[in-house]
Amino acid sequence: MTGPRPPQPARSAAWYGGDDLGSFLHRVFAKGMGYGDDELRRPVIGICSTWSELNHCNRGLRDIAEAVKRGVLLAGGLPLEFPTISLGEFFVAPTSMILRNLAAMDTEEMIRAQPLDGVVLLGGCDKTTPAQLMGAASANVPAIMVTTGPMLDGRFDGQGLGACTDCRRYWTEYRAGTVSAETMQALESALARSVGHCMVMGTASTMAALSEALGMMLPGGAAIPGPDSRRLLFAQQSGQHIVRLATERVRPSDIMTAAAFENAIRVLHALGGSTNAVVHLAAIAGRLGIDTPLDLFDRLSRETPWLANLRPAGQYQMERFFEAGGVPVVMKELEPLLHLDERTVTGRTVGENLAAVTVDERWRDTIAGRTEPLAAEGGLAILRGSLAPAGAVIKHAAASPELLAHRGRAVVFTSPDDLNRRIDDPELAVAADDVLVMQDAGPVGAPGMPEIGNLPIPQKLLAQGVRDMVRISDARMSGTSFGTVVLHVAPESAVGGPLAAVRDGDLIELDVPNRRLELLVPAEEIARRLREEWQRPPLAYRRGYGKLFLDHVLQAPEGCDFDFLRGQPDDIAAESAAPVTRR
Ligand code: FES
Repeated sequence: MTGPRPPQPARSAAWYGGDDLGSFLHRVFAKGMGYGDDELRRPVIGICSTWSELNHCNRGLRDIAEAVKRGVLLAGGLPLEFPTISLGEFFVAPTSMILRNLAAMDTEEMIRAQPLDGVVLLGGCDKTTPAQLMGAASANVPAIMVTTGPMLDGRFDGQGLGACTDCRRYWTEYRAGTVSAETMQALESALARSVGHCMVMGTASTMAALSEALGMMLPGGAAIPGPDSRRLLFAQQSGQHIVRLATERVRPSDIMTAAAFENAIRVLHALGGSTNAVVHLAAIAGRLGIDTPLDLFDRLSRETPWLANLRPAGQYQMERFFEAGGVPVVMKELEPLLHLDERTVTGRTVGENLAAVTVDERWRDTIAGRTEPLAAEGGLAILRGSLAPAGAVIKHAAASPELLAHRGRAVVFTSPDDLNRRIDDPELAVAADDVLVMQDAGPVGAPGMPEIGNLPIPQKLLAQGVRDMVRISDARMSGTSFGTVVLHVAPESAVGGPLAAVRDGDLIELDVPNRRLELLVPAEEIARRLREEWQRPPLAYRRGYGKLFLDHVLQAPEGCDFDFLRGQPDDIAAESAAPVTRR
């Protein structure tokens, strides 16, 4: 099953087509795998797979890879699958985030090092999609993104459930004593019942949707459920498209432009998507020498309506979003706000893709219209002030409205360990209108900026019926989480940010409408505490990848990438590696 042979791009020709010892050896060992001259003169398409038995969300990728291969063969290319690092969100310790950059480096270097004219990036779980886009951006070889798709809705006791919004909701009730151990045990088998990634608008769904909004995924691909046969057809079509992208040499830098990132940020806000996307988009853009400052996120949030009624901010899950038309319908609603001339992997522009999209009015409860949005502004807000001079993020769409303007007394935990030791202590001096603060949970402090920013409500307050409080930290939180949670405080406390100066009893003011986060302590006193009392926490790693991470990780507003991996436009050379010529 092969289509007509398209012209061989220069990149694989440099490996296979020469009259030198190197090319001879490449042909010898390729033929040793059973390939003939015809195959070796075709565009070579790498299928960069994050399939792993240690990653639940990506376990469907074997079938998807086979469908991609079918598409590549139909279009006349030669598909070759290879593995890269896979990060299962809940299985990787101490946090998957610490390894995202390692996965991105693996993807970048394996694309660059091998005779590939194009790559199909197979991702799914939270970090795999951004890591692959980061690596592909730096390698800048033609690429297209295919994800595993969301799981089917969980089912329990007649209800539809969402992983892992309901994991957290039920766990809170279990801690409060309102749900039994037997119910929790039954839920263990009900929440994640199919292949695919988490099926709320968490980080995985958000990053898949933003791949589409960036133009790196075929329209409509993000929301097709993982077990749905249409996902295999989508994968096959992606395989067909990458052959054309490879022969026309349409590179990630041609698609992921500054304007494309603005489109993606608007879609993020319209979706009420994950706070983690702020970090990941900054990292992907940074690879291409494009800045996405936090103020850009905030400006676009103020101008972009929230449209997608999806959990954790809204009501529904990805299965219904797919039926409602998914990302193309959201983008159709946003059409007047988008840059329509940007190229996409279809070979057409954003505007040309949207010309084919129709909106079905019957699904307005799931994707609201631009003129009657769920809210006039997007789901995320950027805060600044004396507690976060370089910015912080809140998903106000998933917060308690009555807490969005709140002044309260700080109850401080000096580290994640301190929090775990004391949060449920009956002697903890805490009241419902206090502000819970956690230090040393940022990129350097934790390290790896784990998803623990949605601090648990103290058990004694749970017993009083409290279910939300203002919580502030330099950590991230899962895109599936909810609550009045201020995240990504920068600079983080472990590098001497003002968060490190907060003491029990200090007053903190959160003012989301005015985008303020203030530590109500005189500036001189904050400076004195940092100068005289703050000590840099001991470094968690002295060797290996952990040390590389601590030495080079950037703060959250710069995407937590490594300083030496960000690019300048001039760095983005196409076909930047060629095999050594041997005579
Ligand atoms: Fe993989 Fe949620 S655990 S997406």
